[in-house]
Amino acid sequence: MPAQTVENQVNTRFGPSRRFCVAPMMDWTTTHYRYLARQLSRHALLYTEMVTTGALIHGDTSRFLRHDAAEYPLALQLGGSNPQELAHCAALAEQYGFDEVNLNVGCPSDRVQNNMIGACLMACPDKVAEGVRAMINATGLPVTVKHRIGIDGRESWEELCEFIEKVSEAGCRTFIVHARIAVLEGLSPKENRDIPPLKYDWVYRLKACYPHLEIIINGGIKTFDECRQHLEHTDGVMLGREAYHNPWLLAGVDTEFFGQPGPARSRHDALRAVLPFIQDELDRGVYLSHMSRHLMGLFHGQPGGRQFRRYISENAHKPGSGIEVIEQAMARVPEPDVSLVVPA
Ligand SMILES: Cc1cc2nc3c(=O)[nH]c(=O)nc-3n(C[C@H](O)[C@H](O)[C@H](O)COP(=O)(O)O)c2cc1C
Repeated sequence: MPAQTVENQVNTRFGPSRRFCVAPMMDWTTTHYRYLARQLSRHALLYTEMVTTGALIHGDTSRFLRHDAAEYPLALQLGGSNPQELAHCAALAEQYGFDEVNLNVGCPSDRVQNNMIGACLMACPDKVAEGVRAMINATGLPVTVKHRIGIDGRESWEELCEFIEKVSEAGCRTFIVHARIAVLEGLSPKENRDIPPLKYDWVYRLKACYPHLEIIINGGIKTFDECRQHLEHTDGVMLGREAYHNPWLLAGVDTEFFGQPGPARSRHDALRAVLPFIQDELDRGVYLSHMSRHLMGLFHGQPGGRQFRRYISENAHKPGSGIEVIEQAMARVPEPDVSLVVPA
């Protein structure tokens, strides 16, 4: 293909619905969490943890990209800024069956800043645009960007618009916007998820100014009521911590946002559906505690929920622990009689 054509390629593939997304979260949105999430909602778009281009290119690629087909629709999040490397990894995403490839321009950790990854790239819209263009040229998958509304020292509305315009001119049409700035000097990554104030109105304004772009809002969203309000101004919502700490929330997503019944009748049913996967993983040598920690939130706020968590905490790490630990923990929570539940 002549270089001119390649450079002007536009990312027209819309891909999966992003009306309701579960955020990428390092060490949290692992394949084991995602498998559970998928027992609760068929339609929520799930994101992997961030994987750096360096890890994918120089490390154990198959291990980093490993997922189960049951997890689809699934987006791979990349961290990086070198266009050739991003292009290579975007092609890998397609080869491995992901539904979308997303670039992280929101993570504020020092470790990633030193490698020009994450939120520090908000200061370099041309570099992000170059990386996105290279990714789009390397894959037919939708290429999306997750970013902040700014960073310290570059937090004006005009600078945010410059970022959006340059990256959209490179062909990106979906922006997932964490509605607060990242403070790169002086706040930890955790503080950067809580301290800078949320400015949802900026995200609404982006959608109003750029109606042709798909704008997904993220940051501090906890309830369906809040989601509904945001959906009046944006194309989709992305939930992180709430979806992890209270995964049962996802059981209402298909009905509420996609007009279809959800797959799970009860928390117990959902957990039982995960057990064969856990058994397969145990057979591969994965430790139970490595997986069970992602199940801890399932009975959040339920009678017996604390006993469920305590039983797992006290037993899952013991050598040779198997799925009987999960079954025993589940038996500590009274099971509702779902035959009495009349479908809405
Ligand atoms: C433990 C943890 C790890 C995270 N890792 C990532 C990551 O790998 N990539 C990313 O773009 N954001 C990451 N984030 C940020 C979330 O994707 C999200 O933007 C942030 O938590 C705000 O959404 P929330 O208020 O709904 O949690 C992480 C957040 C948490 C809590």
